[in-house]
Amino acid sequence: MAESMKGLKRTHRCTEVGEQNIGEVVTVMGWVQKSRNKGGIIFVDLRDRSGILQIIFEQDKCGTESFQKAEHLRSEFVIAVTGRVAKRAGGINANLATGGLEVIAASLVVLSEAETPPFPVEEHSKTKEEVRLKYRCLDLRRPDLQKNLILRSRVVSIIRNFLTEEGFLEIETPILNKSTPEGARDYLVPSRVHPGSFYALPQSPQIFKQLLMCSGYDRYYQVAKCFRDEDLRADRQPEFTQIDMELSFVDVEDVLDVNERLLARVFQESIGVEVPLPIQRMTWHEAMERFGSDKPDLRFGMELKNVSKLVKDCGFGVFSGAIAQGGSVRAINVPGQGGMPRKKIDALVDFAKGYGAKGLAYIAIQEDGSLKSSFAKFMKEEELDALVDALEGKPGDLLLFAADRDKIVFSVLGALRCELAEQLGLINKEEYRFLWVTEFPVFEWSDEEERYTAMHHPFTMPMDEDLELLDTDMGRARAKAYDIVLNGVELGGGSVRIHQDDVQEKMFGLLGFSKEEAYDRFGFLLNAFKYGVPPHAGLAFGLDRMIMLMTGADSIRDVIAFPKVKDASCLMSNAPDVVDPKQLEELCLEIRIPDKAEE
Ligand code: AMO
Ligand code: AMP
Repeated sequence: MAESMKGLKRTHRCTEVGEQNIGEVVTVMGWVQKSRNKGGIIFVDLRDRSGILQIIFEQDKCGTESFQKAEHLRSEFVIAVTGRVAKRAGGINANLATGGLEVIAASLVVLSEAETPPFPVEEHSKTKEEVRLKYRCLDLRRPDLQKNLILRSRVVSIIRNFLTEEGFLEIETPILNKSTPEGARDYLVPSRVHPGSFYALPQSPQIFKQLLMCSGYDRYYQVAKCFRDEDLRADRQPEFTQIDMELSFVDVEDVLDVNERLLARVFQESIGVEVPLPIQRMTWHEAMERFGSDKPDLRFGMELKNVSKLVKDCGFGVFSGAIAQGGSVRAINVPGQGGMPRKKIDALVDFAKGYGAKGLAYIAIQEDGSLKSSFAKFMKEEELDALVDALEGKPGDLLLFAADRDKIVFSVLGALRCELAEQLGLINKEEYRFLWVTEFPVFEWSDEEERYTAMHHPFTMPMDEDLELLDTDMGRARAKAYDIVLNGVELGGGSVRIHQDDVQEKMFGLLGFSKEEAYDRFGFLLNAFKYGVPPHAGLAFGLDRMIMLMTGADSIRDVIAFPKVKDASCLMSNAPDVVDPKQLEELCLEIRIPDKAEE
């Protein structure tokens, strides 16, 4: 039986009730966390988004009717209680903010009854994520998720305040768009009015924010929903939120400056973490050479060493062959793991193969200084010793080598370094290590498409001193592009944009767009540029990733109220779903699902 509020007004959230209220009458409302009937006295833990407060029902204080209702309370009933605040008569519960208090109920209203929930609403739930996502509404009652979403709200409000102080305007851009240039697959929305035509949901507000610069708004930001149809991982969702910004009359320095001050403010005011400024910077080239990654985690060492020179003429064909084919041989030193059992090394080899390696060679330095190696028989003793020296190997260390094309060597050793640091507990989880990675290449070679594609996007400005390389050696041209990396996660990225016609035209040409194609896709931007365009640059943070790192969550699903799972479906609502044939008819769409054989 559900009762009405009967004119009651909530006076406090549960943990807003404090020592200062002792003796006062309060009205609190929330969910029953648990209820224990000890005969003449019933203890109820009442929960709302602020936390838990203990309520006591005794017949002589709350009257027979309320007492009888209290006897029937079960978990997740929604109730309103009016009563007097008192010091706790029983033992103090140090785990609760209100652990020294209780409310002696004078009346109880049952606002809603509840069926037994499919899993207990509790912190650090052990219930499988699929079940929790199916009943997300209940899951979201759990204090850990509530803390995450409350922090998220706070972070957004700090960002809004900061950017407003800095002269940014918050401007919304459309969701129903033409395709944007971020390089993932688009989500399409069919148009009813224009049968056969589709809107694309924005992968980012990139073109619109550049148009806003052309229109003179000079500093723009938006808390922007972005949509990308790509393979999902722990830090990727098909729809996610960017803190997106663009600035006029600026260069790289100006963008990095305002954004590192933004990060310092946000981390200080939301989680009390001091971000020392300026944030460390590293070129993309250095990041790859030292860490095998464009988003290096700097909380631990195990840097890559290039040993190509030492092994280019050695007798081990795997090494000399890789170098002869234009690749390299690089290695990491895993400290203290020289005694790693063969089985564990084999598991590392399998891990490396997952990143495209053909194998993983090792030297295990024994405590007595002797060497055990998977390629000893192909090498002279002094060659092995030279490798140990190059990697500063000490007794008890394990040296792991990858030989292949640079791209594969970097991805294998970059990933192995992080995996081993995790396995060996080398990471200080309390630490926040920020890094700007700068001077990204303009282009990246796509093996799949067998052509160069834009590493950031086609509007990214090459570095002034590399403009000439566009004609001579485009693969080496560096861009005015930057990423902000935190603890090995790409938190955000951006670039200075091209604002000169001739450079933009050249870029499109190099990317394989004809002038017509470029105008067809981005004509509205290129046309706008004809009427006066300021130099401009910008950046976008992934808000979900930022909150994930702040809360220590394992996945961005834990910081998004209603996330999707790996196959981009929503377990709660069952989206995406089939639609009424009438809707399809209106849209002039027919569905044809190919047989497996046809695929
Ligand atoms: P970019 O594509 O690098 O740049 O995206 C910016 C940031 O958005 C976050 N992000 C994601 N977060 C969750 N799920 C995803 N699928 C996902 N994809 C990206 C990342 C990333 O660093 N328009 C440019 C920015 C600019 O040049 O100003 C852009 O979108 O944290
Ligand atoms: P093999 O002669 O193929 O048995 O290889 C000898 C050792 O070299 C083994 O430990 C392999 O795992 C390793 N190995 C094979 N290919 C590579 C490679 N591309 N890079 C590093 N090590 C490799």
